[in-house]
Amino acid sequence: MKITAIANQKGGVGKTTTAVNLGAALAEQGQRIVLIDLDPQGNATSSLGMQDFEGETLYEPLLGQTAIATKILPTRLERLFLVPADLDLAGAEVEIARMPDHLLRLARTLQPLRADSAFDFVLLDCPPSLGILMSNALAAADEIFTPIQCEYFALEGLVKIVRVVEQVRDSGANSNVEIGGILMTMFDSRTNLSSQVVAEVRQHFGDKVYATVIPRTVRLSEAPSFGKTILEYDRCGAGARAYRALAEEFIRRHAPVPASAESIS
Ligand SMILES: Nc1ncnc2c1ncn2[C@@H]1O[C@H](COP(=O)(O)OP(=O)(O)OP(=O)(O)O)[C@@H](O)[C@H]1O
Ligand SMILES: [Mg+2]
Repeated sequence: MKITAIANQKGGVGKTTTAVNLGAALAEQGQRIVLIDLDPQGNATSSLGMQDFEGETLYEPLLGQTAIATKILPTRLERLFLVPADLDLAGAEVEIARMPDHLLRLARTLQPLRADSAFDFVLLDCPPSLGILMSNALAAADEIFTPIQCEYFALEGLVKIVRVVEQVRDSGANSNVEIGGILMTMFDSRTNLSSQVVAEVRQHFGDKVYATVIPRTVRLSEAPSFGKTILEYDRCGAGARAYRALAEEFIRRHAPVPASAESIS
C-alpha cells in the first residue's frame, strides 16, 4: 500500500479533479483505492455526490477518538472508497495545533491501513494552503503527486512545492518523502503557451513529469456539479480518456521493478 498526497499550495490547479478522477480510473483498472478528502471545503466529497454524511470525516480519527476504518465509506464505484470532509475538519486543524505531535497526527492515523492489505493506494486530496492539514499530509505520504496548470508561473509554483517537500524531509517528519510525479493539467491545444509551459517544466523536472497531459475540457468542470466522476459523466470524452491514460501510467510507474531488470541496470 502506498500513500500519495496530491498536493500543490497553489489553488485551482486541478488537485481535486485529479484526486477524484485518477482515483476512479485506478479503481476501474482493478486497484483498491481510498480517497481521503483533507480539504474542509469538501470538494472531492461533493464531486462524488457524498456531501450528506454528517460527521463522517477525518476529524475524529485525527484526534485519536476513533479508528480510520470506521470512516472509510464505499462510493458508487467498485473498489473506490472515500473518507469525506466538511467544514468541521477546519476545527480539527485548530485542535491538532495544540498537540505536541501535531505534524504526525495523520501519519499515525493511517498506520493501521499500512498494516492491512485491503487497499493498494491511499490518495490524499490536499487543501491549497500550507496549513497543519497539508503539513500532516506531506509528513504521512510516501510520495507527492503535484498537478500544475499549463500557464505562466507554473515553474515558480513548482519550485515552491519542491522547497516545502525538502523542508518536511529535513525536519525529520518524513525522511523519505519526495515528489514522485508532476502532472500538467488544463492543457489548451489551441494556444502555444500550453506547449511552451509543458516543454519548460519537462526541461527542469525531466521524467518526474508524467507523459500523460490532462486537456482543458468543459466536461471535466461540469462533472462535479452532478456529483459524478468524468468516467460516469462523459465516459468516452477527452477528459475520461486522459484520466484513464493517467491511471495506466500511474500503475506502470508504481509497478515493482523485476529483480532481473534491476541486476541488468
Ligand atoms: N482539465 C480541466 N479542464 C477544465 N476545467 C478543469 C480541469 N481541471 C480542473 N478544472 C476546473 O478548475 C477548477 C479548479 O480545479 P480543482 O478544484 O480540481 O483544483 P484544486 O487544485 O483542487 O483547487 P483548490 O486549491 O481550491 O482545492 C474547478 O472548477 C475544476 O472543475
Ligand atoms: Mg481542491
